Amino acid sequence: MTHDSSLAVVILAAGLSTRFKSATPKVLHSLGGKPLLEYSLELATALTDAPPILVVGPETETEIRAWLGERAQLVVQSNRLGTGHAVMQAQAALEGRARHVLVLYGDMPLLQRGTLQALHERATATDAAITMMTVTRDDPQGFGRIVRDASGQISAIVEQAEATPEIAAIRELNVGIYTFNAAFLWMHLPQLQPSPRKGEYYLTDLVGMAAAERLPIESLQTSDPLETLGINTRVELALAAKTLQRRINEHWMLEGVTFQDPETCYLDSTVTIGRDTVILPNTHLRGKTTVGASCEIGPNSVIEDCTIGNRCRVTASVLEEAVMEEGSNIGPFGHLRKGARLCRGAHMGNFGEMKNSTLGPGAKMGHFSYLGDAIVGADANIGAGTITCNFDGKRKHPTTIGEGAFIGSDTMLVAPVEIGAGARTGAGSVVTHDVPPDSVAYGVPARVREKKDQES
Ligand code: UD1
Ligand code: CA
Repeated sequence: MTHDSSLAVVILAAGLSTRFKSATPKVLHSLGGKPLLEYSLELATALTDAPPILVVGPETETEIRAWLGERAQLVVQSNRLGTGHAVMQAQAALEGRARHVLVLYGDMPLLQRGTLQALHERATATDAAITMMTVTRDDPQGFGRIVRDASGQISAIVEQAEATPEIAAIRELNVGIYTFNAAFLWMHLPQLQPSPRKGEYYLTDLVGMAAAERLPIESLQTSDPLETLGINTRVELALAAKTLQRRINEHWMLEGVTFQDPETCYLDSTVTIGRDTVILPNTHLRGKTTVGASCEIGPNSVIEDCTIGNRCRVTASVLEEAVMEEGSNIGPFGHLRKGARLCRGAHMGNFGEMKNSTLGPGAKMGHFSYLGDAIVGADANIGAGTITCNFDGKRKHPTTIGEGAFIGSDTMLVAPVEIGAGARTGAGSVVTHDVPPDSVAYGVPARVREKKDQES
């Protein structure tokens, strides 16, 4: 995208959002893994390096500022006197700073970069007083109507509350996104008068002013009405989430990923997936997750902030901040927690849990086991029901299991403890002391009974 330092962006977000019925500011509600407001901020940042001006209400100021940090300059609109009044709050901060001023809403997350880019290009090419977006929809409810004269030029925007029946019947509508010539904006904004019916300062009245002065007004129609969806209720929030999801899933399908039922797969925009991977129904991929090529993920899996290599399989499992190396697999019903790593070709079967632990290359842990703070060597076998007792009530302790070790079913490994390479433990052992390499320990508490090479 072209960055234009002569462009300033104002994001309006001071509306009361009463229909959201929430204690949390509407624009901080999560959509596709990030706050609603993030979408407008990203659009602004894509167009210009200058931090946008964000107009907020006094009751949301503190919370929004805490989330936002230095990414935008906050301006508080104390009396909600309309969109024109909201932009007036930004005048002192912006006047003389930029040649064009783009007005965005903080609650219009489906707007696409390309659309804004086109608007911006039109504004710079024509230097019209106002370059605005319009949309044609069957349902005009709540939108300002675009009034055009006999020659097709825009002559006014009439708000629904002020519209006569003829004007109310117009289906070309005001999206609410405009690029203003800054000189025009700052000269005319103070001239706005309260509207007759609602007493609000309508930003849209600037269009009538420009037309009366025969100043050029440019407009761009969006082809996708969904792009202009403003989020006023949680019903619209859900619709936006669906739409974003469809965009994300379609992107990955076009990149070579198969979805058996994309309607039931939920991917954050931050996730990446390799070719020929198959995503099965009811799969959630979140945060900084990357999935390699030729994997099978799902059904019924939740994966957050994980790195998954090529040719892995995840079946009905939950993974958080974990790593799966090439060719490893998990499930059904496995749980990888923070710091878990399945090395190349490792297998974790039913009802296993791992935290801050590594299952070495080719190692297997088939059934009902817990590994916490453990390192398991290559090709070791963790028998059904094995537990690392890593917590003594105060502190966590490590367990080390050597290469090729064979841990018998239902072994309790009381950490800190080390099982040597090639060692075995008997079923039901409670291991409280280290077991040397190639030896066999069993019993409660486990004793080293024999060297493994004497066994056969
Ligand atoms: C506005 C437009 C209308 C357009 C519609 C598209 C005006 C007068 N009307 O309608 O032509 O079709 O958007 O959605 O501009 N806001 C403030 N302070 C205020 C009022 C609003 O910051 O005092 C913010 C809201 O948070 C929201 C945006 O401005 O992000 C639009 O407000 P909203 O009330 O939804 O729009 P309307 O005025 O109904
Ligand atoms: Ca309104």
